[in-house]
Amino acid sequence: MRTVDLIEKKRNGLELTKAEIDFLIGGYTRGEIPDYQMAAWAMAVYFRGMTREETVALTQAMEHSGDTVDLSAFGRYSVDKHSTGGVGDKTTLIVAPIVASLGGKLAKMSGRGLGHTGGTVDKLESIPGFQTTLTPEAFRRQVEEIGVAVIGQSGDLTPADKKLYALRDVTATVDSMPLIASSILSKKLAAGAKSIVLDVKCGSGAFMKTEADGRALAETMVSIGSACGRNMAALITNMDLPLGMYIGNALEVMEAVDVLRGKPGALRELCSALAAQMLSLCHGWTVAEATERVTEAIDSGRAMETMEKWVAAQGGDAAALTDFTRLPQAAEKHPVLAQRSGYLTHMDAEGVGIASSILGAGRRQKGDTIDPAAGIVLEKTTGDYVEAGEVLAWLHTNQPATLPEAEARFTAALTWGEEKPEAQPLIYGIVRGGAHG
Ligand code: URA
Repeated sequence: MRTVDLIEKKRNGLELTKAEIDFLIGGYTRGEIPDYQMAAWAMAVYFRGMTREETVALTQAMEHSGDTVDLSAFGRYSVDKHSTGGVGDKTTLIVAPIVASLGGKLAKMSGRGLGHTGGTVDKLESIPGFQTTLTPEAFRRQVEEIGVAVIGQSGDLTPADKKLYALRDVTATVDSMPLIASSILSKKLAAGAKSIVLDVKCGSGAFMKTEADGRALAETMVSIGSACGRNMAALITNMDLPLGMYIGNALEVMEAVDVLRGKPGALRELCSALAAQMLSLCHGWTVAEATERVTEAIDSGRAMETMEKWVAAQGGDAAALTDFTRLPQAAEKHPVLAQRSGYLTHMDAEGVGIASSILGAGRRQKGDTIDPAAGIVLEKTTGDYVEAGEVLAWLHTNQPATLPEAEARFTAALTWGEEKPEAQPLIYGIVRGGAHG
């Protein structure tokens, strides 16, 4: 087989076979196929697309390009969730203890934040003492006993995706549906769970800007995951505004705890929907039955108890979940005041995420340290009427010099109007795959 022939075949809009895709991905991972040929192939895919069979083959080739996690010991109960990323997205902190308290097994690897989006590992590490590295044996035992363990990426999972993603990033080939779907799913499949629920975000703070694109990505990933033998579901959800009212690492832990203690609102609604899908897939319950059990797990305090056990098991200060003063606190809490009266008709989630990052909550580059206390507490959100002089938000930071730039980014993210905007749905739709037992 010659790489140039495969590039030409794709350029001409023809379908590659599984053997040809294995040849490309294997050769690229081993360093036998150079970046320039892989870039040409990625661009051909960008313009010509891929069939479902090709996308399945690409996903599986990347899944098996490195280590894979074996969760077969947990049988049908191993379950994972993945969010395509957003601002204020602390859903894992809420969903994981709910699902674990109801018999699901979450042996989860999570990422750190980059750019304007946060990462679960950073959020968990804002709890004093919380360890996000565990030995494989401690990881397995914790999942068995408590139902949940979350660690940072470890091992050499999907090296093909790491290489290809970095290449796509600099060759204008990121936003290709089959390349995105296979990139996300190969990592999830390698992480081993039998059931996978995807939270595909769309809107100003997300990778997919429109609902139609979000739905197409959700359908593609559910179809491919099902073809690979996993139980799949995807929620298509709104990321046109930040999720919840707290953005920043320790701040998001506080808001997650509030929801687990019963606070109502959009965040609880979304987490309940995600948890219900996960439980429905791994137990075979109907979604209605799973939803009832989720409500009971929150209202009875069982999910919160699981959160405390989980945090303590990973070395974290569980008392900080009751006494928030034990969590990192910012020295400076600066109010942003409304300069005018009117309705907030739009709050650009990406802009708010960037403002939070400037305050110290995020990284400009991989490897930068973050300030766990930094972030933003919103007092107003899209749809609210605001009087001039009212507090819109509090900016939390330990670096007061960042305040002018952060405040400018925050206020630039707001759109004002005279009329109340139409309420937007939180969940646009749900896609389910076939069951695989
Ligand atoms: N996230 C991923 O992991 N891969 C993509 O291609 C896009 C978003």
